[in-house]
Amino acid sequence: MRDGVVFDFMGAVESVSSLVRKSKSVLGYDIASASTGFPPGIGAAESRTCRFVIERAGLECAALVDEVSAANSVLDIEDGVVVDVGHGSTGVGVMIDSELVEVGDVPGGGMHINLILAGALKISEKEAEIAKRRNGAEVLDIIRPGIERVAYSIARLSRNYEHLPLHIAGGGLMIPGACEIVSQFLERQVVNYPNPLYITPLGLARSSI
Ligand SMILES: Nc1ncnc2c1ncn2[C@@H]1O[C@H](COP(=O)(O)OP(=O)(O)OP(=O)(O)O)[C@@H](O)[C@H]1O
Ligand SMILES: [Mg+2]
Repeated sequence: MRDGVVFDFMGAVESVSSLVRKSKSVLGYDIASASTGFPPGIGAAESRTCRFVIERAGLECAALVDEVSAANSVLDIEDGVVVDVGHGSTGVGVMIDSELVEVGDVPGGGMHINLILAGALKISEKEAEIAKRRNGAEVLDIIRPGIERVAYSIARLSRNYEHLPLHIAGGGLMIPGACEIVSQFLERQVVNYPNPLYITPLGLARSSI
């Protein structure tokens, strides 16, 4: 995946196959089906690619759901903005009376924050990922522009719904102080959750039941 789209089909198939092999050996039982998610608002052709990856890896595709709907099946927000800040892209869905009324997804997330850190510290992207996870609070001032850029995207994708709180899922803002920066920058209420990285995957798994 890059910027929220499958750009290396066979690489994605190999990743899924390898994860299934590892899971089978750890869990000790067979995995025959899987659910997959796609960035909200992308075209039907792109979202079908996610299903084809699952099928090419020898699994049945149990569900194909947009990531924001998957996240909200866990968060259960009636009125609010569900935000999924991933590695490559930021997805936003506006919930009114438990209905998804607006969706969108734009490039920008943890990967872009890594790029800023890598450039500033003159280290590789891989080293930046490690530094961000280990010393996130200490490098907050360096990566602030990247976080504010994500915040700006969230604002753009939820225009006219500024009165609604932002509910943050995804791993992209799992840096101590990052959600506070978003809240201050946008002057909006931000709600964060423990283990935000697992909200959307849990919703995807649930959607196949
Ligand atoms: N402990 C951590 N501290 C800080 N950041 C983290 C941590 N764990 C994961 N991340 C970041 O979370 C991001 C991955 O989040 P997530 O799994 O939600 O993305 P994704 O679903 O793979 O991406 P996308 O939705 O864009 O396809 C990465 O950018 C990674 O750096
Ligand atoms: Mg994601």
